[in-house]
Amino acid sequence: MKKFLIAFVMAVLPLAANAAGGAGVHLDHMEVDLENKASLQRGMKTFVNNCMGCHSAKYQRYERAAQDLGMPNELVEQYLILGDQKIGEQMTIAMSAKDASGWFGAPPPDLTLEARLRGPDWLYTYLRSFYQDESRPWGVNNAVFKDVGMPNVLEYLQGTQLNHCSPEQMRAEAAIDPLTGKEMGKCLTVVEGSGELSEEEFDKVVYDLVNFLAYIGEPSKLDSHRIGTYVLIFLVLFFFVAFALKKEYWKDVH
Ligand code: HEC
Repeated sequence: MKKFLIAFVMAVLPLAANAAGGAGVHLDHMEVDLENKASLQRGMKTFVNNCMGCHSAKYQRYERAAQDLGMPNELVEQYLILGDQKIGEQMTIAMSAKDASGWFGAPPPDLTLEARLRGPDWLYTYLRSFYQDESRPWGVNNAVFKDVGMPNVLEYLQGTQLNHCSPEQMRAEAAIDPLTGKEMGKCLTVVEGSGELSEEEFDKVVYDLVNFLAYIGEPSKLDSHRIGTYVLIFLVLFFFVAFALKKEYWKDVH
């Protein structure tokens, strides 16, 4: 019975997580690349400048990030620590959860483990799927997080996005016009010239940002990759040593 219950909860959990996030909308895929240090560095910069006004990453220390991403401590202190925090401290923020709940309806959650909770694809899609909706307090809604309490903080880069689809059409991967039965093209389109970046450039900024969020979710993955390489090199070398030894031992037997 206990086993059954556990299996049941495991089966239902992802559904529950999905329901909380406006289920069913197609997610754009991205390939996390923790070896791409330049991307992770750019992602950290975007995170610090655009997200840490409201979100902390309190299980991540600046110093660890500096080490892992190959940045000198002084540069991190100078350019990536905006307040008077020290390099050895965690990436916390000054805003209290209580104040934030009052301002936004929901407190901005800590994002250290967010990539593990939602997955990189969800984050990559979420951050590019805000659209204009005057009925909402911040004038925006989100295709994968209905009635989200977060303003579209990257709008200055992406531009204003409009939504041409009904919720049902958004769930279908390709939007079909119910009257004509024809494909309508993309649901979300950016008003031309309303943002600083082209669509491609903006996708890249968000890619780097989510790459960084994936890194802070599992910082030891970088270590595992490195150690894994050493282990493989060791095994290859050891094979030759063992083989030579075997030959030596059996030499006199034959
Ligand atoms: C002005 C404050 C503010 C800023 C700046 C901000 N957010 Fe948010 N964010 C929020 C609030 C409030 C929520 C909670 C929304 C809700 O639950 O309705 C939220 C929710 C989220 C969520 C969804 C959390 C969940 O429920 O799983 C993610 C992911 C997220 N933010 C990422 C970011 C990233 C990345 C940035 C920087 C580009 C950013 N946010 C900048 C206020 C902010």
